[in-house]
Amino acid sequence: MDRILIEGGVPLEGAVEISGAKNAALPIMFASLLTAEPLDLKNVPDLADIASTQKLLQHLGVSATHVAGEPSRMVLHAPSILSETAPYDLVRKMRASVLVLGPLLARTGAARVSLPGGCAIGPRPIDLHLMGMEKLGAAIELEGGYVHAQAPNGLTGAEIRLPQPSVGATENLLMAAALAKGESVIAGAAREPEIVDLADCLTAMGARIEGAGTSNITIQGVTSLHGAGHAIIPDRIEAGTYAMAAGVTGGSILLKNARLDFLGAAKEVLEAAGMVLAPAEGGVLARVAPGGLKGSDAMTRPFPGFATDLQAQFMALMSVADGAAMITETIFENRFMHVPELARLGARINVHGASALVRGVKELKGAPVMATDLRASVSLVLAALAAKGQTEINRIYHLDRGYERLEEKLGAVGARIERVP
Ligand code: EPZ
Repeated sequence: MDRILIEGGVPLEGAVEISGAKNAALPIMFASLLTAEPLDLKNVPDLADIASTQKLLQHLGVSATHVAGEPSRMVLHAPSILSETAPYDLVRKMRASVLVLGPLLARTGAARVSLPGGCAIGPRPIDLHLMGMEKLGAAIELEGGYVHAQAPNGLTGAEIRLPQPSVGATENLLMAAALAKGESVIAGAAREPEIVDLADCLTAMGARIEGAGTSNITIQGVTSLHGAGHAIIPDRIEAGTYAMAAGVTGGSILLKNARLDFLGAAKEVLEAAGMVLAPAEGGVLARVAPGGLKGSDAMTRPFPGFATDLQAQFMALMSVADGAAMITETIFENRFMHVPELARLGARINVHGASALVRGVKELKGAPVMATDLRASVSLVLAALAAKGQTEINRIYHLDRGYERLEEKLGAVGARIERVP
């Protein structure tokens, strides 16, 4: 298994190109199930989760291929659906696989999807996805670890009220409602930029959607969708991560293609912690303000609040700030697995329930650490970039799920980083 070695202590300077957003690309790839015509996507990142999705879609009958000479372009084409089952082995590896449910049901009237089960960051149920599909007229049964959903006469528009703004449920329901008969309303919808990107792609395919990006989305169902071309938005979590790589090393990085508006409250949170994020030619410039990093609190919230997917990285940043920071996780129950690993590098962190108190230290020191999930892993990379001496990060397959060419991008701004088999 590969490891990453980092020799920390170098302020990172230069430019990093932000890739297409993983969490926008995944649902949009699943949207290819909704039409018999090709979906031509640009800015698709080269990641393990994208490859898993390609595999699952191919199993269902979608040809999903990269265009020769254009590595970030992918054409997905599902002239007919060959299987209505998303098997355990493929869903277990990647929870986002549950996003086949809405499109398969809408296109074929049936879907059989393995229950994703727990994952490292918490139990992550799919009850809201299922409740929404039932409102749209599907009959749902759970058997043998699988969700069997059926709507032989098609789905019918309905009002669906989400008690909490689930990103995945909003996406699954948007795709299902696009082909349902009549009007649907998703009230209490998630407002993440990835939802807007999916709605934009569906609209290009002929769907009629209003209100994406707000808590109330209205969909007028159409009888069929057609092919389209669409470019995936830049990855706001990757951008926030590299911004903090600049911060934690006391450097300055131009985040090419990044969008400040996609960062939501992360901009204010990072600025309160002593960073500057400013619009710049072609992207966003991230650097530490002259006063240096200072301890500052943060609480994760749905967009436009501070993203849970940036919480671990912010904890690494606060580990070397002047003063203390209280970091509260409100979205997932078990998303502090990076704490003991950061402690191995010398961070001083106490967890009390959903909050972690981080007392900044003058210096972190390199040590062997182990990655546990995607964002936890990259928080260890950030801490290692700041630490004195060498850090060895194990189980880095988590990083390959969500960070495209991480070593290359960090190496280009001066990090001493290498992957060893
Ligand atoms: C998406 O997961 C992202 N994944 C996650 O990114 C991200 O952390 C999360 O949204 C929150 O922003 C993708 O987009 C592929 P949710 P999702 O449904 O859709 C509860 C990463 O690192 N809930 O918005 O699964 C749930 O338990 C990943 O890239 C229910 O109770 O998240 C959680 O507490 C990790 N019942 C909250 O809602 C449901 O049916 C928000 O989850 C669905 C969700």
